[in-house]
Amino acid sequence: MPNAWNIDSPYCLSLADVEEAQVYLKGLIHQTPIMTSSSLDESAQRHLYFKCEIFQKTGSFKVRGALNAVRFLSAGPGGKPQPVVTHSCGNHGQALSLAARMKGIPAYIVVPRTVASCKKAAIQGYGAYVVECEPTYEDRTEMAAKIVQETGGHLVHTSWDEAVIAGQGTIGLEVLQQVPDLDAIVVVVGGGGMLAGVAVVVKALRPDVKVYAAEPHNANDCFQSKLKGRLTPNPGSPDTIAEGVKGNVGVKTWPIIRDLVDDVFTVSEEEIKQATRLVWERMKLVIEPTAGVGVAAVLSQRFKDLPQEMRNICVVLCGGNVDLGSLDWLRDTQGPPNA
Ligand SMILES: Cc1ncc(COP(=O)(O)O)c(C=O)c1O
Repeated sequence: MPNAWNIDSPYCLSLADVEEAQVYLKGLIHQTPIMTSSSLDESAQRHLYFKCEIFQKTGSFKVRGALNAVRFLSAGPGGKPQPVVTHSCGNHGQALSLAARMKGIPAYIVVPRTVASCKKAAIQGYGAYVVECEPTYEDRTEMAAKIVQETGGHLVHTSWDEAVIAGQGTIGLEVLQQVPDLDAIVVVVGGGGMLAGVAVVVKALRPDVKVYAAEPHNANDCFQSKLKGRLTPNPGSPDTIAEGVKGNVGVKTWPIIRDLVDDVFTVSEEEIKQATRLVWERMKLVIEPTAGVGVAAVLSQRFKDLPQEMRNICVVLCGGNVDLGSLDWLRDTQGPPNA
């Protein structure tokens, strides 16, 4: 297992861990492009640089962390391969499934029995065993713990695992290279793995660059935590269209976010939908509403009120996995046969 954690860093990871992850991930993932749009620049009154993780393998950034997390697990055939286990019906489930297949180890993904069939199919398509449970957080975590015990597997949390956070931080390394004149980066926050990883990198290499978090009003635990100076989870399960950010910042991501993140911008459900639609219409990029949270943040009045010297802003388009069955006109149409 990695031994760099905690060395030379007051946090659970350091810049060195992210740099190591970047070396490991080279050739395994895509270096995703940066795209621009003069029409969105006009709306935001700044230069926007969109980091297109929608084009990442599995359609979201999550594969960075998942691959880094399986890095140290044995792949057999000499030793018995150690399985990986997680509970996620979304992007992390797909990412860990693919990461395990690339590593040659089994993956067990616990999903609520109510999950959309396309999501289950996507996870299975990458080769994992899908285990269904009751649709409560308690049941998901209990089932995952049971599988870990039965299989001797390694639990990979979607946001709070050090190796996952380091993997997500590689987005920050790429952005600093791709946008040399960067003034700020906007990162959507759920459990905080992406935000914490990016913040560690940016504040180590370019402390002058602002790191901003974006989240829905309806799932504003990061905002509340920063306001109160202590971890303040959402009361109950948040009601938001941005499915990827229903989770809470955790004990490992919180100290990094508390110290290194400059501000948190929250947006309404309507703003998320409008921003998502705008990116579809103007940029022709299929982003999921969770990615629309970051776009909505830079279009918000509070963001516009920031000093005008802050010209060059990067927004991470973190995922593009849209449930097409949720679009009325496509609901009853399957993909072409053999596609
Ligand atoms: C598309 C997308 N964006 C953002 C997030 C939030 O990431 P984190 O939990 O690292 O904050 C997720 C989490 O599933 C996601 O799927």
